[in-house]
Amino acid sequence: MRILITGVAGFVGSNLAARLVTEGHTVIGVDNLSSGVAENVPPRVIFYRTDIRSRRIFQFFEGVEAVFHLAAKNCLFDCLQDPVETAEINVAGTANVLEAARRAGVQKLVYADSSAEYEGVPEFPSKVERIAPLSVYARSKRAGAMFCEAYADFYRLRLTTVRYFNVYGPAQDWRRSIPPLMSAFAMKLLKRERPIIYGTGEKRRDFIYIDDVTEFNVLALQDPRTDGCVYNVGSGVNYSVNDIFLEVEDLLRTGLAPIYRDDLPGEAEITLADIGTALKFGWRPRVGLREGIVKSIAYVREKLLV
Ligand SMILES: NC(=O)c1ccc[n+]([C@@H]2O[C@H](COP(=O)([O-])OP(=O)(O)OC[C@H]3O[C@@H](n4cnc5c(N)ncnc54)[C@H](O)[C@@H]3O)[C@@H](O)[C@H]2O)c1
Repeated sequence: MRILITGVAGFVGSNLAARLVTEGHTVIGVDNLSSGVAENVPPRVIFYRTDIRSRRIFQFFEGVEAVFHLAAKNCLFDCLQDPVETAEINVAGTANVLEAARRAGVQKLVYADSSAEYEGVPEFPSKVERIAPLSVYARSKRAGAMFCEAYADFYRLRLTTVRYFNVYGPAQDWRRSIPPLMSAFAMKLLKRERPIIYGTGEKRRDFIYIDDVTEFNVLALQDPRTDGCVYNVGSGVNYSVNDIFLEVEDLLRTGLAPIYRDDLPGEAEITLADIGTALKFGWRPRVGLREGIVKSIAYVREKLLV
């Protein structure tokens, strides 16, 4: 197939691209490199450094059969700082991708939604039917999802919505000022520095290893039974931030303790996915926490040594 990925230089996009080119698909990648890095993009991907807000992207969709729309402004804190740019990228940018897809006659689109959709729902595990996005980020992802739904309803685009929980693993953006948890702990401890934990460390997160996410993305692309459906892509198990610190420290044995700082605004207390519907397809999370952390540490170690 000819498949276009927006956000191909990012974490989820680059892992997916690597898998799809290995399977023999032609992969076209679009990314403005605002947070992604060119070195993430696998060599066989036809890569365009461009912004999803630009009409210039329309030409890249010619002959494309399926789209993974992953590009987004996705750091909660950054979105809170700049709601207008968040809307421009996550809402208007999504509409622009959808319009490019419609004009090119693309049949299928997979939209990367987020567990942030459940921020205001106090029941766990989170079921796809009940959402309450609160943060600027979450609301922008909801608005993007609604545009996808409109294109599915009015232009017969086959749409699958995947709500990722806390994805971790190689190619995760460890360079950010506040890197995602696994990378942050690994990076600091490998440098023999004390990691920072925001809040008490008792917030619980549903972590899912990147290969399991890639596997579900491929399934969403290939199985027509996923058309018109929404899936939680998590592990169905959650761990506290302190648990994760202890796991990483147990592997690295530095003897260092974390530094506790004030909570970051807008972070949910708990995430936990109900993955019942995803399991029906024979998919299941295969990489356990310990194995995933070992692989994540290996990746960060390799990057730090470069
Ligand atoms: N990683 C997670 O845990 C997680 C959880 C829930 C949802 N998601 C969603 O999954 C998707 C991928 O996330 P990720 O972790 O790979 O993020 P990422 O930041 O690693 O990748 C996003 C990519 O989009 C690109 N991008 C941003 N704005 C752009 C623009 N205007 N034009 C073109 N490219 C642009 C960035 O440069 C980056 O390479 C996002 O939509 C995110 O909201 C991710």
